[in-house]
Amino acid sequence: MIMTQKELKTLCSNMTLEEKIGMVHGVTLFRTKAVERLDIPAFTYSDGPMGVRLEYENDVWFPKGFTDDYTSYLPSNTALASTFNPGHAYIAGQILGEETRGRGKDMILAPGINIHRSPLGGRNFEYMSEDPYLSGRMAVPYIQGIQENDVSACVKHYALNNQETRRNDVDTYVSERALFEIYLPAFRAAVREGKALGLMGSYNKFREVYCSHHQYLVDEILRKEWGFEGIMVSDWGSIHDTEEAGTAGIDVDMRTTNDFDEYYFADPLKKAVEEGRVPMEKLDEKIMHILHVMNEVHMLDGERKAGTYNAPSSGEKLLKAAEESIILLKNEEKLLPLDRKKIKKLLVIGDNANRMHALGGGSAEIKALYEISPLLGLKMVLGGNCEVTYEPGYYNYVVGNAWGKDANSQGTGGNPMKKLEPEEINTLNEKYLERAKAACSQADAVIFIGGLNHDHDVEGKDKDNMRLPNGQDHVIRELLKARPDMIITMITGSPVDMHEWLPEAKTLLYYSYNGMQGGLAFAKVIFGEVNPSGKLTMTLPLTLEDSPAHRLGEFPGGDMVHYNEDIYVGYRYFDTYGVKPSFAFGHGLSYTEFSFGEVMASVTEEGGCRDGICTIPSLFVKASVPISNVGSRDGAVTVQFYIKPVDSAVKRPIKELRGFEKQFLKAGETKEFCAEFDAYSFSYYDEDRKCYVTLPGDYEICAAFACDDVRSIAKVTIQREYTIAR
Ligand code: BGC
Repeated sequence: MIMTQKELKTLCSNMTLEEKIGMVHGVTLFRTKAVERLDIPAFTYSDGPMGVRLEYENDVWFPKGFTDDYTSYLPSNTALASTFNPGHAYIAGQILGEETRGRGKDMILAPGINIHRSPLGGRNFEYMSEDPYLSGRMAVPYIQGIQENDVSACVKHYALNNQETRRNDVDTYVSERALFEIYLPAFRAAVREGKALGLMGSYNKFREVYCSHHQYLVDEILRKEWGFEGIMVSDWGSIHDTEEAGTAGIDVDMRTTNDFDEYYFADPLKKAVEEGRVPMEKLDEKIMHILHVMNEVHMLDGERKAGTYNAPSSGEKLLKAAEESIILLKNEEKLLPLDRKKIKKLLVIGDNANRMHALGGGSAEIKALYEISPLLGLKMVLGGNCEVTYEPGYYNYVVGNAWGKDANSQGTGGNPMKKLEPEEINTLNEKYLERAKAACSQADAVIFIGGLNHDHDVEGKDKDNMRLPNGQDHVIRELLKARPDMIITMITGSPVDMHEWLPEAKTLLYYSYNGMQGGLAFAKVIFGEVNPSGKLTMTLPLTLEDSPAHRLGEFPGGDMVHYNEDIYVGYRYFDTYGVKPSFAFGHGLSYTEFSFGEVMASVTEEGGCRDGICTIPSLFVKASVPISNVGSRDGAVTVQFYIKPVDSAVKRPIKELRGFEKQFLKAGETKEFCAEFDAYSFSYYDEDRKCYVTLPGDYEICAAFACDDVRSIAKVTIQREYTIAR
C-alpha cells in the first residue's frame, strides 16, 4: 500500500539534515544515498533513451565490463516517432520500464523530447521531431509504458537543449511565443498527460540563467502552472549555484565528477541550510518530491514489481517498431520491393550495411544483447541460395568525437581500424570504389547503405555541415552510373544533404538508428515481407542554408544564440515561406496505393452563460476521412490532420499538425480515419495575455499524406473566442 501524503510528511520530518542532504546529491555517478534508519532506499538512475545503459564504476566513467549488463537496444526516439504509431511508443516504454526495473534501477533517463531545431544538432537522434505535437503524442504513451513497471521516466532536457555546441553555458534567446508554441508543449504534455514522475534540467541557459535552476521555467511554469510534483534532477553537472538552485524547484544534483561531498547539494547546501541562506522548507520540498516518486513506484511499501530484462518476446515487439520506422522516400519504376526469387547474386555496398550502432552516441550508448546489421538481416532473410557480396565502397574515416570511443572504434564495421594518412585514405577510397563498380555488373541487384553513424550523430558535438561524410556523394554518383537501379538507403539520425545525386536516384529508403532488430526490419522491407509505413518526423532541406535556424536565426551562435526564426521551425517555415525541401515533414511512401475520400468535420461549442448560469465554454471538433487501399498489397498508412487558420488576424504558420491516425488496411479495404480537436488545437500563444487563444473565425482541417500532400479539406467555423491556460 502506498503511503499517504501525511505519512510522507511525517517521514520527512523525522529525517536529520544530514540524511536529507544524502538524498539530494549523487554519492556515486548514478545513485543518491539511502536512509537506512528509516527504511528509505537509495535511488538509482540509469541512461538512457535507447535502453538501459551498461554498468559503470561508482566513481569513474569506466565500464565494469561484466557480462550481466547486456540489454535490449530500442529504436532511437527519432525512429520511434517516425512510426507515427503511439502504440509502438507505449510498447517500447513498457520494455524500457521492465528492463529498468529488471536491472534494479529506479529512474530511466528517457525519453528525450527536445525539438530538432537544426539538421546539425548532435543529439537529434535522441529526440523525436521538429514538431511539438508529434513529440508530445509519442512521449505520453512512452512514459506511461515505462511507469507501469514501478519505475520513473525522466523527460529530458528541460528546456531548449537544441544544440551541443557550448551546451554547458550557451545563453538561449527565444520569444515567449516560440517557447510556448514550439519548445515547451511536448514537456507540458509529458507532465500533464503522461504524468511523468521525473524530469531533467538542461545544461544551457535561458535569458542569462541556467535552465536547471531557472525561476521562471522551473518554479513558475513547471511546478506551479503544470503542477509537477515529481523529481527534477539536474543534467550531470547542470547546477551552478547552491543558493539559486537550493531555493529553486530542482531536487537532485548529479554530476560527472567524483568529488561527491563537494556537489552544490552536498556539503555546500548543508552549510547554506544551517546558515539560513536556503530555508529548510525548500530542502523539505525536494525531499517530498523524492519521497513522492519513491512512493509511486512502490519503493517504500515492499510491493514493487521485479521487472526483467532481455525477455525473448521484447525482440519480436521491437522488430515491429523497427519495421514501421523505415521510411520509403522514393520508389520510381516500382523498383522496390525486390523479388527474392529472382535474385541469385546480391551486391551490398556501404559502411552502414556492416556497422553496429548501439554502443555509440554518448550517454545513449547501449550494450546491446544483439544488433542485427543490415547485411546480417539481408542474409537471414535470403538464406543460402543467394550469393551476397559486400563491398565497403568507401573508407569510413574515423573523425573522432567528444566521446572518443563511439561506433567507429568498436571494430564492428569490418573496416581497418588504424588511423590512416590522407593519401592512404584516397588510395583506399579509389580501390574500394573501383571494386564496388566492378562488382556491380555481376549482380542481379545492388543495395547501397550509407548515411551517418555515431561519430557524427553524437552527444557533445554538433555536425559541421549537412554533407555525407567519407565522399559518399561521389561514390553514389559513380555507382549510379554503373547501376541506375541501385537501391539507396540512408541510415542517419539527422537530415543529410542528398542534392548531388537525388535526381538520379530511383529509390531512397531513409531511417534513424532503429534498434537491435534494425537490419532484419530493413531486409523485410527490401523484399516486401513488410510494407514500409514510416514517415519523416523532420523536414529534409535541400541544403543546410535552406533550413530556418540557419537562414533566419543563428546556429550555433556564440556565447548567446538567438532563435530569430521564432515559431517558424521545421515545416512551419518551409510551408509558410514557400521553400521547397528535398522531402517534406510527414512524407513516406508505401508499396501499395491509398485513395482519399472527403474529410468531414463537425463542430460543437458548449458552455458560456445562459439564464445567469455560466459554464466554461468548450469546443469540440471531430474530423473523419475514409481511406481505401486501392493497391494489391496490404499496408499501413498514416493520415495527418493539419489545422490552417483562414485569414487569421495574427501571423501564424500556414498550418500545423494537430492530429494523426495510423491504421493497417488490407488490399481493397476502406477504413475511416479520425481526429478530435479541442480549443487548444486551434490556438496560438498570446504573449500579452500569457495564455493560448483561439480566435473565432474560419479554419481548414487539412487531411494529408504529408505536409506537402494535402488531399482533402474541411472548413469549420468557430463562433467564440477561447483561452487556454498555458
Ligand atoms: C547527458 C544526459 C545524461 C547524463 C547522464 C549527460 O551528459 O546530457 O542526457 O542522461 O549525462 O549520463
